[in-house]
Amino acid sequence: MDLYGALRPLIFRLDPETAHNLTFWMGARACAWPWLPKPALPASLRCQALGLSFPTPLGLAAGLDKGATLLPLWKSLGFGHVEVGTVTPRPQPGNPKPRIFRFPEAGLILNRMGFNSEGAEVVAARLRRRPAGLVVGGNLGKNKETPEADALNDYRAAYRLIAPQVDYIALNVSSPNTPGLRNLQAPEALKPLLAGMLDLRKEMGLERQPLLLKLAPDLAPEDLDAIVEVAVAAGISGLIATNTTLDRGVVQEPLRAFVESKGAGGLSGVPLKDKARQVRQRILAALAGRLPLVACGGLGSAADVQGALDDGAALAQVYSALIFEGPSLVGRIHQGLAEHPRSH
Ligand SMILES: Cc1cc2nc3c(=O)[nH]c(=O)nc-3n(C[C@H](O)[C@H](O)[C@H](O)COP(=O)(O)O)c2cc1C
Repeated sequence: MDLYGALRPLIFRLDPETAHNLTFWMGARACAWPWLPKPALPASLRCQALGLSFPTPLGLAAGLDKGATLLPLWKSLGFGHVEVGTVTPRPQPGNPKPRIFRFPEAGLILNRMGFNSEGAEVVAARLRRRPAGLVVGGNLGKNKETPEADALNDYRAAYRLIAPQVDYIALNVSSPNTPGLRNLQAPEALKPLLAGMLDLRKEMGLERQPLLLKLAPDLAPEDLDAIVEVAVAAGISGLIATNTTLDRGVVQEPLRAFVESKGAGGLSGVPLKDKARQVRQRILAALAGRLPLVACGGLGSAADVQGALDDGAALAQVYSALIFEGPSLVGRIHQGLAEHPRSH
């Protein structure tokens, strides 16, 4: 059994945020070790996407390392990329606690963190010391108190600080925990947002840096089609699908009532899997190869990741499965992918 497996019963007895802080404290100690192991990744996992070279298509989704504090550890575990954030331009505390709930028997997480962020300046300073050999993305959001009408200013402020330090940027317009944020996915709101961000990218001489958009799984199929057309017409670099879902219908009874009793927030993990895959398949059909897609949502095994790649995704990201299964998940997924007869 690995260390996480041994500690798991203890970790899962703690309240989730205490467990998170404890594992991050241990992770930070591990990052300081000079003998942090180098990942041994099969060469067959190497892939190109978004104009970048990845040691593996598997990455860590946004929200776990919001402040870029454990990058050497993620690299050592074998992730090919890490999406840091969501980072807001100014620091903010996020929602009151408790704001994260685990349901291990269902592989489900409910969270309403609400973008707790140290702010773009602090995270950018940390990113300046990022390790080589790991693709790092910066996932950006707006501050809670910023009116929707001024959202572009917030994304631009965070971009100015974070973009020069990372390999790609993801615009998060899909968190359910910042009031009004998801309205930015509407085509009339999305067009000026993307145009404004692409203008800034050009102004900063970062035209070659990929700019992606992260979408929610709760959009109607026709809305997805419309968003795809806006994204392609604007000239952004790719899409990430999906973020967490507000749909309690993905959880079976009797657990659903228990989940509902915990209040607001987005659901992730196993119960999101089918819904996220349907959304991705719709997006991939609408894209027809015009832009790359990063798969996220309910992925927890080599078969899940391979399924997403076979559907046409360029890369895949995990979050919830890592919480439930621990770091050994990464090696298991890689082993399964390497055994798969097709190239990635
Ligand atoms: C506790 C928690 C916090 C998250 N925070 C963010 C975030 O700040 N930004 C973001 O884009 N996604 C965030 N996510 C969503 C994940 O990146 C991912 O899209 C979602 O959890 C689905 O993947 P999964 O089923 O593998 O967890 C968060 C997810 C969880 C569970």
